[in-house]
Parts: sequence; structure tokens; C-alpha cells
Amino acid sequence: MVSSRTAEPQATNTHVLQLRCAGGHMNHPSEVKVSLTGSIGLSTEPMPTSLYTDPTQYERERERIFRRAWLMVGRVERIPKPGDFFVKDLAIFKASVIVARSDDGKIRAFHNVCSHRANIVEHRPSGNAKRFVCRYHSWGYNNEGDLAHVPDEAAFFHLDKRKCGLTPVAVDVWEGWIFINTAPVPEVGLTEFLGPVADALAGIDYPNPDNAIVLRGEFKANWKAVAENFSEIYHIASIHPKTFGPIYTGKANPFGRPLSANLYGIHRSFSLWLNQENQPPENAKVTRWLYAAGHTVTGTRKGTETNSIVEHKSVNPQKFAEWSQDVNWFFPNWHLQISANQFWTHEFWPTSANTTLWEARFYNKKPGSVRERLQLEHFTAHITDGMLEDLGNIESMQVGMETGAKPFVHFNESEILCRHGLEQVVKWTSATSVKDALG
Ligand code: FES
Ligand SMILES: [Fe+2]
Repeated sequence: MVSSRTAEPQATNTHVLQLRCAGGHMNHPSEVKVSLTGSIGLSTEPMPTSLYTDPTQYERERERIFRRAWLMVGRVERIPKPGDFFVKDLAIFKASVIVARSDDGKIRAFHNVCSHRANIVEHRPSGNAKRFVCRYHSWGYNNEGDLAHVPDEAAFFHLDKRKCGLTPVAVDVWEGWIFINTAPVPEVGLTEFLGPVADALAGIDYPNPDNAIVLRGEFKANWKAVAENFSEIYHIASIHPKTFGPIYTGKANPFGRPLSANLYGIHRSFSLWLNQENQPPENAKVTRWLYAAGHTVTGTRKGTETNSIVEHKSVNPQKFAEWSQDVNWFFPNWHLQISANQFWTHEFWPTSANTTLWEARFYNKKPGSVRERLQLEHFTAHITDGMLEDLGNIESMQVGMETGAKPFVHFNESEILCRHGLEQVVKWTSATSVKDALG
């Protein structure tokens, strides 16, 4: 069984611990003897494999995590103008939700289901609409969700149009990130749910938030197994020796040990090392300017150019020089990753107990020249190659787990985010109230 650590007051619940020693002298990351995992109160025991394979565990997660948590569904820049909307399908609840900016400028969310006979109303994935019109019998709703038009209204019995709007879904926005909560009445507000991470990561000036490259796919694996793949780089030397290996591992840090880890209540992050010796040869001209894109670290970096994101107090909090990126994993299912020139997100949406819709968005400057366009294409191709290397391993891990041969999985120091994530899953599925789960 998993032990949970003692709760601390929210305001002081941010732990900042380093795998590498400070005091003016950095130890070799692979020489560190102190257990980061133990020192912040996490269990160091193996964790049950059934958490990834047991169908009843999945049911519990649906009701106690996904139905009670605030879930990030997109950035405000996706719907900048009144009438802009996108549809988010949440297979875990068999739900479809419209997220729209109404004519009054407010962001609202509704179940995408008609009040007449419950057809799906909006079939486009995104667009701009003054009205959402159900195509079956043409009931029309304005973009504030009110029922505005019923053909042959006089033929209905006792129809109160004011009670027949689209069913609202709780929505709130933090720092440009739109969250929904599908509970009929959320037990806590978004700020309380975010806890210490809300302040820690407030005020970031996100570069190019309106221009994302989207990668999407369905993995045949439990959502936690998919999320964990993107939450540790212990596997990088092993399965990404050519794509990501040269960036995140090197002689000084052969297994890519993280530089530091921070717990923000139920959320978590770590800072990753950068192999600064990874440079293309002097005479490889084309490679050099493609490389100027920063390889995986940025799409449009020029030389040593960076942006203000690196100055933020909670981005690379210890300001390590050999820093590549931060992975911020918001409970339960999204990552906000930040490097010197770019940010990107991963979302992990369960579609069944052992399938997951993964969606990544890499935010980049719109190319202003052929060179920048090619850099961006190179960046995208490079990332995609790396993701394909992950895919096969995530799915075969699920196959292995489902054989039942191994009742436990083992996490090491570098897999600390996986362990903390799984501990929170156990905590939330046991807690009868969100207050207890946050406690
Ligand atoms: S079901 Fe939507 S108008 Fe009839
Ligand atoms: Fe990977």
C-alpha cells in the first residue's frame, strides 16, 4: 500500500530540493547519494501494477479524479473573438463540451447536447458561431447558451424556453489556461484546486501563445502510463539515443538525472539538465542553422537569444546554467513544459482503462522567412521521430503489465514525478471529498 506524506499548510507546501548540491560547487549528478524521493516524504516502495490494469481502479479514477478535478482544456488564445469556440470530447464521461467566448466576451462551457431530444448540437471541432444550431430540428442557442429559437414553438406543450438552454459546465481561467469541472457543483474552486502552483507559476509571459503545432494520437495504454512516459527521462539514453539522448544526457550526466524537483501540493515539477557539449560540427553549415532552432528546445531560437520566461522565479528556480527545461505536471492529466524559448503542453485523456488520447501542443513563433519555416519543419520532424520511439514502448509496457506477471513497478530517483503522480491518484481515489484529497 502506498503511504501518503504529512500535509503541510498550502502556503508552505512548495518543496525545493536538489539532486545536485548547491554551495557554489555542483556535484556530478550521478554521484548523488541522498534520496530526494525519501527526503520529501514520498514512499520509496514499489507501486502496484494493478493501478494501471484493474478496470475497477479506472472506474474509481473516473468518478473520484476526473469528475472532481479541474481539467485544463485549452488556452484563451484559441478563442480570441466573441463567438469563437472549440469542442472538447471527453471520452471518459462519454461527454462532449463546447468551450466558447460569448458575445459579452466571457468564456463559457456547455454540454454539447440539445434540450429538444438530446442530439449532439455542434459537430464542428472549432469555429465561430453567433448561434449553435442543432441540425436535427433546428433548435438554436445563442453563444451564451440560451435557447433562442424553436421552430413551430406553438406546437409544444408547457415549453419554458428559459429552462431549456445548453447545460452549463463549470469553467474558470488561470493565467490564460481554461479549466472545466464536470461536477454538477465543483467541491472547490480552481484557485483552491491549484493551490501553491497558482502563485508559483503566476505572471509568466508565454511566447507565441497563439501559434501551436498540434500532435495527437491514441495510445493503447493506461493514461497514467502515457503521462509517466513524458515525466521522466531515465528512458532517454535507452530508447532515444539519437533523437533526444545527445540533448539531455552526456558524459557529465549519463542518465539525465534531473537538476531539482518541486512539489506544489498535488502538482509537481522538475528541472532538467542540458548537455552543452552537444553541438554540431563547425563545418556542418546546414546542420548548424537547423540546429540554431535549438533542436528540441525551441523552434525559432537565434544564437543565444532567449526571452523573459527564463527570468521567472519558478522557471528553473535554482537558475542552473546547464538547464534545458522544466516539466510542470498539473494533477491529473496535463503537462506545461517550459524552455528558454518555448513552451509546450501534453494532455493525457483516458478513453478507456487501457487507451489514452494524447495531445501535445508546441507553441512557436510564426515563421517569417523560408529559413524559419525550415527550422520549424526540422523541429517538428525531430520531435515526431522521438515521439514514435516512445509510442512502441508505452504500448508494450501496458501489454507487459496486463500479463499479471509483475505485481509491482519500481520508480527510481529520476522517476520521482511518476511516483508523486501515482501517490496522488491513490489519495484521490481513496478520499471521499476533494478537501480530503487536497489535504
Ligand atoms: S434534437 Fe436538437 S432540435 Fe431536435
Ligand atoms: Fe521519450
